[in-house]
Order: sequence, then structure tokens, then C-alpha cells
Amino acid sequence: MSDSGSKQMRNLYTNPDRYMKTFQEFLRLSNEHQVMSEWITARITTFVPAAQNDKSFSILGIGSGSGEMDLNILTSLMKQHPKIHNCVIEPNHQQMDKYRSLVERHREILKNVNFDWNEQTMENYAHSSSKQTRFDLIHVIQMLYYVDDPEATILELYQNRLKVGGVLVIIHVSDDGGWDKLWQKFGKLLPQSDQCNYITGRAIQQILEKHKIRYENRQLPSYFNITDCFHGNQEIGNLLLDFITEVDNFVSEAPEDLQKEVLNYLLSEDCSCKEDDKIIFKNDLQVFIITRE
Ligand SMILES: C[S@@+](CC[C@H](N)C(=O)[O-])C[C@H]1O[C@@H](n2cnc3c(N)ncnc32)[C@H](O)[C@@H]1O
Repeated sequence: MSDSGSKQMRNLYTNPDRYMKTFQEFLRLSNEHQVMSEWITARITTFVPAAQNDKSFSILGIGSGSGEMDLNILTSLMKQHPKIHNCVIEPNHQQMDKYRSLVERHREILKNVNFDWNEQTMENYAHSSSKQTRFDLIHVIQMLYYVDDPEATILELYQNRLKVGGVLVIIHVSDDGGWDKLWQKFGKLLPQSDQCNYITGRAIQQILEKHKIRYENRQLPSYFNITDCFHGNQEIGNLLLDFITEVDNFVSEAPEDLQKEVLNYLLSEDCSCKEDDKIIFKNDLQVFIITRE
């Protein structure tokens, strides 16, 4: 296997505009938001604490992006909880703007939700905010890849930010899908950066078990159509390859032998399956439901 070239490649997160473009393409070509939304709509009200008189139900969303999943959570919970306080932690300005516009467009439905906007990272929030404020629900959806220390983050949220009886929901890629195999095979050859760690559900499970934190765990099968990486729209294919490898401009920056190896591996059954003329990457997700004891 190729072992050259990782020095000149830059991590995709050093180029936030391109990262956002790749993420939009990923969302367009995968059913990730759809499967998460279906799960949220069907399940979220079944495990969060019940409404207490006229008290506001409090939610902390970490890495909320442009807010689509948060909106889903809010609209599902509004049926049980007439008043909601929703604290948003999102460091990316562009994403936060989109989230605010989404809320603006749904202002009437969300009239009983009070928003607390925090354009900052989880790490900054942990240092700057009062530990007195605790939440009924904390959600961390597809975000733990980007924190400095996933173990410290989970412990901070569980021990210091959640009310007793409150629930922490983590949605993350599963170790059953293609991501785990891909990262095990190529993670060391791709640019390492403290802006992204290649962890899957297994690592989260190990952290929870190490600290004897009880959890429930669900698998959400999901797909990601990566056909454009092989044939079709080359510009989109390049964006998808950046998203997959987390390299800024993988096709122009990565050594050719590494590109070939990655493309071949993406076609293998570890990562994908064929459906007619489409190449479908296994994007399975895992949900962790953790109730504070
Ligand atoms: C893959 S996106 C997921 C967005 C959204 N939760 C969703 O599922 O659509 C990850 C989000 O985490 C945010 N993020 C990155 N580093 C973060 C950090 N250290 N603390 C909090 N959020 C972070 C990014 O800006 C981005 O919006």
C-alpha cells in the first residue's frame, strides 16, 4: 500500500467553505437526514423525561449545523412540552446563519421555543459557561469527530451538563458500515489533524463502558450514493472524494497510487454494494441513548 504523500495533503477542515460544499453534496446523495428524521419523529418522545408542570424543557444541541435535525427534535417534543429552552452550540458562522433562517421560516410553529445562540465550539462552551445550567436533553449528532477529546466531551456532557433523569443522545457512524473499514485501512495515510479524529460507534461504546455509563444502542441503516466518484459528474465526484477522505482536493493533492487504492477499496464489498449502475456506500449510523443516573 502507498505510504507517501500525506505530508503535502491538507485536511479538509482547514478549508471550511469547501468542507461545507462537500457536506451539502453528501447530504444530497445520502439518506442520512431522512433516516435520522424518521428515527427522531418515531422515538424521541419515548425516552425523554416527561413535562413538569409549567417548567421549560431544556435542550442543548452540540454541532447543530444548519439545524434541520434540531428542528425535527423541537417539533417532535413540542407536543409534550409546551415551553422549550433550546441552547445551540455551533462554531461555523455560515451554518449558524442557515439555522437562524430556518427558525425564522418556522417562527409561528416555534413561538414557544426560546433560542440561546452560541457561535462557538464545544470546548469553548465547556470552559466559558456555568456548570449550574443543566439540560433535560443533550444531542450530539454527527459531531464527535471534530472535538479535541471525545472521551472528555462525553464525560463533560454526561456528568456536568445533564440533569439526573435527563438524556444524552449521540448519533454517529456505526462500526458496521464502510467508514470504519475505510478509516482502518487508510486513516494513517491521510492527513492527521487535531480537527478531525476517525472514530466510529465502537470508540463511543468503549468510552461508555470504561466509565460504566449505561446506554441503549440502535443501528440505523443508511446509504450514500458515491457513483460520481467513478463516472458521472466529475466535479461532484471530486467533492465526494474530499468528504470521504477528509482531504482538501484529494484528486489534485493525493499521490496517484493512493487515489487508485482508495477508489478500488471504495468499490469493494467492505465499503459498498452495486445497485443497477449505482455504487452505494454503506453509511450505517448508530444511536446511543444515555440516561443520567
Ligand atoms: C457533520 S456536521 C453535522 C451537523 C448536524 N448535526 C447534522 O447532522 O446535520 C458537524 C457540525 O459540527 C460542527 N463542529 C465542528 N467542530 C465542533 C466543535 N469542536 N464543537 C461543536 N461543534 C463543532 C461543525 O461546524 C458542523 O456544523
